Amino acid sequence: MASNSSCRSGFRSSHVAPSEEPVFLRNLAHWRGRNHHGLMHAFDNRRASEVRENRRLHWHFGVRLLHWLTAIALAAQIAIAFGPMNGPGMATMNWLPLHMSIGVTILATIVLRLCWRVSTRAPVRPTSRFMRFATTFFHVSLYAAILAVLITGWLGYRPMPFMPPARLFGTLPVPLAPSVGALSARGFALIHAKLVWILLGLAGVHILAALAHFALLRDGVMRSMVFSRSDTASRG
Ligand code: HEM
Ligand code: HEM
Repeated sequence: MASNSSCRSGFRSSHVAPSEEPVFLRNLAHWRGRNHHGLMHAFDNRRASEVRENRRLHWHFGVRLLHWLTAIALAAQIAIAFGPMNGPGMATMNWLPLHMSIGVTILATIVLRLCWRVSTRAPVRPTSRFMRFATTFFHVSLYAAILAVLITGWLGYRPMPFMPPARLFGTLPVPLAPSVGALSARGFALIHAKLVWILLGLAGVHILAALAHFALLRDGVMRSMVFSRSDTASRG
């Protein structure tokens, strides 16, 4: 049975059986449902194509996030290593635990990024085979250089007997490296400091190339590594 009040007010009441519903209300509900679905469908399609386009032009969100975290941590590491850690007296020994902790953090971001990198796609660009090869080769060299710096740093890290044991930012214990070959920890520390210059050279060329893409070529290479409004769409 339909209550009068529901008919007069124009709202569908739970007391109204579908067959007793006024025809105009049934038509209205049908029209609204169809249009609602049509609009949602168009919206979903647009969103899906935005996501596809974003994935095609950008590095994956996780890769970008870890790329910039690595760049910030590396800048901090360099500032500490050539700044206060390079000071007189016990400066090196005092700053080494922090230096080691930042280094281990960089190692974690690099390993995580490599996992993300191999399981997602790089941006698609209309470039020659040679350019693709050269870019990949350079990026692999950057990864190799940073890993070589990290590993030799670890092999060269031997806290003095009076120093506190190696701990990540004073919390988790970090295992000390075993002795490898004939080279002493001091020898590895020296190689470590030399390799830093190779890493800095490669990073310098990389940054200059990125700036050239951004300011001169304007081909979207820089955009592929930064964050934009459509990022929320590409995270999934
Ligand atoms: C990307 C990461 C790293 C960078 C850029 C870096 C950079 C440097 C630099 C520039 C120096 C020379 C400082 C000076 O001349 O006084 C140095 C020294 C050293 N670093 Fe690293 N380092 C990194 C990671 C690590 C890690 C992970 C460890 C240890 C687990 C480590 C252990 C050492 C040691 C033992 C020294 C020698 C200190 C001494 O002169 O006795 N480094 N590092
Ligand atoms: C201000 C500093 C930096 C800028 C402006 C920058 C910019 C960029 C840009 C635009 C790309 C995309 C290149 C492409 O799509 O072909 C890229 C990728 C990359 N960058 Fe950087 N970068 C910086 C610092 C660094 C540092 C310090 C490292 C490591 C030492 C690094 C390592 C890489 C690697 C390995 C890639 C390849 C993508 C990946 O595997 O994550 N970048 N960078």
